[in-house]
Amino acid sequence: MSLRLSGRIAVWLLLQLFATAQSNPNAYSGSISQPSEIPTQIPGQDALLMGTAWYPEQWPESRWEEDLKLMEAANIKVVRVAEFAWSRMEPSEGHYDFDWLERAINLAAKHHIVSVVGTPTATPPAWLTQKYPDVLRVEENGRRVTHGNRAHGSATSPRYRVFCRDIAERMALRFGHNPNVVGWQIDNEYGYALMSFDDASKHLFQDWIKAKYKTLDNLNAQWTTNYWSETYDSWSEIPIPIGGHNPGLRLDWKHFVTYEWAAYQQNQIDVIRAHSEPRQFITGNLMGFFDGFDHYTITKPLTFSSWDDYVGKGHVDPDHNGLSHDLTRGFKRQNFWVMETQPGMVNWSSLNNSLNRGEGRAMAWQAVAHGADDVNYWQWRSALNGQEQYHGTLLGADGTPVPFYDEVNQTAHEFGKVQSAFKGTTVVSQVAMLYSYDSHWAIQFQKHTDAYNDNEILKSYYANLRGLSQSIDVVSADAPLSSYKLVVAPSLNVIPEDLAKHLLEYVRDGGHLVLGPRSGMKDQFDSLLKQRQPGFLADALGGRVEQYYPLEKDFPVSGSWGEGQATIWAEQLKSFAPDTEVLLKYGKSNGWLDDQPAVITHAFGKGRITYIGAVLDDKLMAAAAQWMVQQSGVTPVFGPVPDGVEVSRRTGDGHEVFILINFAKDDRTVSLPRPMKLLLAGTEGGTVDLPPYGVEILVDAK
Ligand code: GLA
Repeated sequence: MSLRLSGRIAVWLLLQLFATAQSNPNAYSGSISQPSEIPTQIPGQDALLMGTAWYPEQWPESRWEEDLKLMEAANIKVVRVAEFAWSRMEPSEGHYDFDWLERAINLAAKHHIVSVVGTPTATPPAWLTQKYPDVLRVEENGRRVTHGNRAHGSATSPRYRVFCRDIAERMALRFGHNPNVVGWQIDNEYGYALMSFDDASKHLFQDWIKAKYKTLDNLNAQWTTNYWSETYDSWSEIPIPIGGHNPGLRLDWKHFVTYEWAAYQQNQIDVIRAHSEPRQFITGNLMGFFDGFDHYTITKPLTFSSWDDYVGKGHVDPDHNGLSHDLTRGFKRQNFWVMETQPGMVNWSSLNNSLNRGEGRAMAWQAVAHGADDVNYWQWRSALNGQEQYHGTLLGADGTPVPFYDEVNQTAHEFGKVQSAFKGTTVVSQVAMLYSYDSHWAIQFQKHTDAYNDNEILKSYYANLRGLSQSIDVVSADAPLSSYKLVVAPSLNVIPEDLAKHLLEYVRDGGHLVLGPRSGMKDQFDSLLKQRQPGFLADALGGRVEQYYPLEKDFPVSGSWGEGQATIWAEQLKSFAPDTEVLLKYGKSNGWLDDQPAVITHAFGKGRITYIGAVLDDKLMAAAAQWMVQQSGVTPVFGPVPDGVEVSRRTGDGHEVFILINFAKDDRTVSLPRPMKLLLAGTEGGTVDLPPYGVEILVDAK
């Protein structure tokens, strides 16, 4: 999951080094929700759109019309512009030039293409960074970054915030009423949440800590600073955590990073909102499972979420990609955009192989299937020079289409052909999976075994449950849960008392809550809970965790879900309520776990709570998912499909639309639950034949 990002960050760090060297510088109702409005669908535009990142500033104006004609021919309806063009929009301090951008936006409109305008704050221009070096980030090693890359601005620099606000405001004054501008993107990928490790940041952090804890006594108590003589006698003693530090301090640093990036974003949102028409949306391009900040907080003020969906090395993993879409949809619990995706290949991975023919189309449809209403390719054409010359594009250096253009052309025309079926529709699920940045960070800080990857464990639950239910929401642990028949929290490590109350209310009212290993171990300060796992939920479970064991080898487990292995992590459970059932037990293992419960379940209120104390092998995970679904009365949204075929449903405005995608390597035939209309084929029938990467869109035959 983090491979793409760590790979890219590594590339950027290398580029950075290179630049330095060069320049020396339950109560599920079953009802279909009918969203009255879907902000991701733009009034007057098709319900599904396809677009591209376009950089008119990199080309002579005489070329623009040709670009736009080629886009129009491919049914491209959206361009994202300007997000790196600060030096063209403000060539010197206080001197602005937006005329060229206005001409580009208006010319695009002539070709029936709307624009999303990005604020250029990921790339402050040289005049700014040279005159005011304090706007440049300082790295952990104390060195200030040099100019010539991107994400070099310091998000916490008060001076940088002033410049960011100014350029965003001037852009909003110019384009906030432009009928061809449909929305805004803030910054670009939020500078990977990189922080500046300078004194200004440290003081802000100390102030933030003071505002949170009020007294040093309180702070010292919550972080248990009597440990290792960490006691603080003054706010000014509190360090920025670099490397290993107190987990409470580290978690608060993550909260502070989130707070600062939210403020960095709000600084621009405020001026854009003040000078733009309400119809213009504001979004930010996120990065799936990137964990630099808490995405539930960052996306709060946005009109909708969007994300950049890159595969990098290898090929699309439908479970990982579907899960990432569902995670993004869950940030605001509504449809989203794919602001960027790769046209074939990227340039930042260890092996930048191309997607197979047809794979990009399957990915675009998978995005739609999971709730995207727009898919944009990055990028239209490579700049002749610059760091990304090798990246996939839709045009070659000569300005004519590369082979991938044809696939985009086909997919975009398909979007146009069937878009009306998607109008007003979204994904509605009976199953929710809970995600929590605090839990993720707390586990990352102290993994206890390198093999424990909470995001991979999430994926193994997801893959099995998605196959059975065919629709899953991934939501914040504190999201409303009453509409779900089943709520699964595979690694909810941090469960403070108020969150426990929220979860218990769901169970009491009839829901089924399934907890995975390491659940309910910590409170909001990353302190251990005195009840042991699962903390405030132990009484409702009628059991608890006696001890946890990272595993150096697999151990046998067996019970009503069959026989298999515990891998990576195993917890010795104990039931203390007479009616707590043991579903799986360990076999002969390390002595401690022998014959001890591995999975227990207990009825509570009108619902049920289940604790799975081990990471289970694939076979047992599949059986566990089957049990969860049966026990909770979850029904599939469509019906059986062959292996490798993903089916999804979007509903709304009184109808349903189904998306079938064949991710298998061979042909598949899907038998439909009833005769349906095949919108792409333009026929009606009871079966659908899908070649590898084949797609079909289905609605009920009327
Ligand atoms: C990111 C950025 C783009 C581009 C692509 C390349 O998503 O937002 O500007 O660099 O990566 O894959």
